[in-house]
Amino acid sequence: MPATLNRKIAVAPMMQHTDRHCRYLLRLISRHTLLYTEMVTSGALLHGDRARFLNFDAAEHPLALQLGGSEPQELAECAAIAEDWGYDEVNLNIGCPSDRVQSGRFGACLMAEPQRVADCVAAMRARTRLPVTVKTRIGIDDRDRYQDLLDFIEPVRAAGCSVFIVHARKAWLQGLSPKENRSKPPLHYDRVHQLKREFPDLTIVINGGIETLAAAQAQLEHVDGVMIGRAAYNNPYILAAADRLIDDDAAAEPNRRTIVEQFRDYADRHLAQGVRLHQMTRHLMGLFQGQPGARAFRRVLSEQGQRPGAGIEVIETAIRQVDGARS
Ligand SMILES: Cc1cc2nc3c(=O)[nH]c(=O)nc-3n(C[C@H](O)[C@H](O)[C@H](O)COP(=O)(O)O)c2cc1C
Repeated sequence: MPATLNRKIAVAPMMQHTDRHCRYLLRLISRHTLLYTEMVTSGALLHGDRARFLNFDAAEHPLALQLGGSEPQELAECAAIAEDWGYDEVNLNIGCPSDRVQSGRFGACLMAEPQRVADCVAAMRARTRLPVTVKTRIGIDDRDRYQDLLDFIEPVRAAGCSVFIVHARKAWLQGLSPKENRSKPPLHYDRVHQLKREFPDLTIVINGGIETLAAAQAQLEHVDGVMIGRAAYNNPYILAAADRLIDDDAAAEPNRRTIVEQFRDYADRHLAQGVRLHQMTRHLMGLFQGQPGARAFRRVLSEQGQRPGAGIEVIETAIRQVDGARS
């Protein structure tokens, strides 16, 4: 377990996206970016197939497990499990506005129940030495003044949470789909910057609409860290320069060709364990974005990668498309 995690650049938790195969790919691109799992609910972890939700490759460190839930004792148990499983951080999701999540009384709707969130954090901290962090929004519904954000942060901070990841837009719990809630409410980076100014002792990580490392670097003038979601998934190579920014790690940036070859070897190992090719190659779609041959690369992966029995030769064929376009 690293003594303190470097949080300058993180990739956001994204359901159906940041599974272990995606994270392995991201790790081939950047060694120091902090990675997050998809959200796992406390119920799923306590009663479901734990290994399926939790297993990861040792190369994925530093790695945070994101939990969804609202029962302090359940979350505490999950935090202890996360530590046993080897995670580096446990994060609580107080930002997701989907109906499924609201009916389970967790996610963004818990911004209206700061004391409950504080109780969850306290219970989790009592059961793990891992950092317990909270990912939240700047507000929900009509609780969208800066003071409402403070009313949420203060008790949770008093319960011992010292790291907040703040998606700089509010969520409408009724009327907007989760997807709309990621683009329609306007971004207010100033609120997150103000939070950092008022609580210099807290680690504040900003999230929402940050699409380039240059934009991330500009944010680091105001906050401790930047979490990138969609841009890192759709165009993962933007993370290639992240290590220099995070750790002044001047090791040569990996090139896309090397990354895809290393991922091919990874996929080969996992095919042998029964993972379907497409479950892995779907995360490669954005790797060559903007490069010659990118479209043909994607086409091969999507057309051939989903066929029953598709094997590693599909990745080889896809690589030949970018090689061919270059020469
Ligand atoms: C497909 C998808 C799935 C997401 N799933 C989660 C999730 O499981 N937990 C969470 O806290 N946020 C989730 N989010 C929100 C992201 O973590 C992030 O807060 C949001 O996308 C804004 O950052 P961005 O503009 O950099 O993408 C998801 C976002 C997307 C696009």
